[in-house]
Amino acid sequence: MSAENTYYVTTPIYYVNDAPHIGHAYTTLACDVLARFKRLDGFDVRFLTGTDEHGQKVEKAAESAGVDPQQFTDEVSANFRSLAEAMNFSFDDFIRTTENRHKISTQALWQRLLNAGDIYLDTYKGWYAVRDEAFYVEAEIVDGPDNTKVGPTGAEVEWVEEPSYFFRLSAWQDRLLDFYESNPDFILPISRRNEVISFVKGGLKDLSISRTTFNWGIPVPGDDTHIMYVWLDALNNYLTSTGFPDTESEIYKTYWPANLHMVGKDILRFHAVYWPAFLLASGLPAPKRIFAHGWWTNEGQKISKSIGNVIDPFELVERYGLDPVRYFLMREVPFGNDGDFSHQAMVMRLNSDLANDLGNLCQRILTMISKNCAGQVPTKDVFTSEDHALLEAAGGMLETTQRHLDRQSFHKALIDIWKLVGDANRYVDTMAPWVLRKEDPDRMATVLYVLAETIRRLGLIIQPFIPDAAASILDLLAVEKDKRSFAYFDEILESGVALPKPEPIFPRFVDEEIA
Ligand code: MSP
Repeated sequence: MSAENTYYVTTPIYYVNDAPHIGHAYTTLACDVLARFKRLDGFDVRFLTGTDEHGQKVEKAAESAGVDPQQFTDEVSANFRSLAEAMNFSFDDFIRTTENRHKISTQALWQRLLNAGDIYLDTYKGWYAVRDEAFYVEAEIVDGPDNTKVGPTGAEVEWVEEPSYFFRLSAWQDRLLDFYESNPDFILPISRRNEVISFVKGGLKDLSISRTTFNWGIPVPGDDTHIMYVWLDALNNYLTSTGFPDTESEIYKTYWPANLHMVGKDILRFHAVYWPAFLLASGLPAPKRIFAHGWWTNEGQKISKSIGNVIDPFELVERYGLDPVRYFLMREVPFGNDGDFSHQAMVMRLNSDLANDLGNLCQRILTMISKNCAGQVPTKDVFTSEDHALLEAAGGMLETTQRHLDRQSFHKALIDIWKLVGDANRYVDTMAPWVLRKEDPDRMATVLYVLAETIRRLGLIIQPFIPDAAASILDLLAVEKDKRSFAYFDEILESGVALPKPEPIFPRFVDEEIA
């Protein structure tokens, strides 16, 4: 059983049928922020991401690219790895479902389900959507364009009739409902939890978990005329990474059950219904939480390849810089809701929150210190009530951020951090250190000290969100590298320490198209 001070967080594994886009970058970014936060907060963290490489959808994509599926998946998976690097994602493991460790692990999971009596052989007759890799019942099907039939997501479905192994999902209905009841935080946000519960209450049918009409998958143990259903294969990546089926391995014992599977709302059912059922049926503990986030649209439109409005995260980073993109994605939309991407909103956030509010604060104060305090951390005198108030607000930041991030409320964490930025800017205006310079230099030094200390705490707390900018701020305050974890949150700067020459953190963005 995983311990209290460990934290295992996972992203969905991405289908390699296509190039990475903003949706993929978003999910992984959210996990990266949590992983970084927890590491700084003293947790032993494991952060997993990777690629989902089997199934009909990937096989078809390889076919239309005219390459063999293994070569195709090697190429596309590498693009997802590059995205992880371009976005500075701090993953500990990158899994590919075509790896041998995953085949062994998934066959072992199958064997457990079989031994538990939860698998039987029959024939599947029904609808299947390759795009969603999902089975749908008749009631979910409507007429689509050009005489097609489509499922609830709008994905075209085809009629499938083939021998198939089934998982006895119907037998798990009550046990799942009990599980949700006794684990009220298992599915977040709450609105999504309610949706899942009513879906399960509506009745669960047994689930087809193998296919026979194509080959690109993991063979069913003992019957290689079948390959496993790609979602069973994919979900199990979370276990594979822990060393499963070796449940005695250090990694498994340390990290399983996972603390959080972060997913988009479209794949919640697989994670919140099928996955705990597979695990509980196998005698394994279920993860502690599934969080389903919302979807991005682009300037008000659904993002789709056919519309041609896919947002390329590499281009965004190239244009605005990495930290502004990371900040925007975590700040702009309440996490869990759908959100709209627009260049105008991106530029607004960059110029107002980053360049004006945070960037100017750092630049102004560090320049004043450099000019008026011999380029050293200023000497402090007695603190006034205003000084205490700002320092206390800064001191409270850690607990506030912990509380918000424990519920994946990234936007609330950033709103509160930026309230402190606002407080600090108001304090500068009220204290007017440029006036004190002539009238009371000792008081000026104390005011600048209080500000430097506030900026240090801001620098610490923003590390998970905007790691490069945070590192620059902490460098400018000469905070030693090994004193940047939250264990040092309350430590205060030492007067007299020499500071490097100040440099701007966030230049304003001037957009030729918008200006
Ligand atoms: N391979 C499955 C997941 C298996 S996990 C065991 C899959 N892959 S995916 O590549 O299609 O999608 C991965 C994630 O990207 C999903 O969480 C999905 O919600 C997210 N997004 C895809 N498009 C998105 C947006 N436009 N906006 C936000 N996230 C979106 O599903």
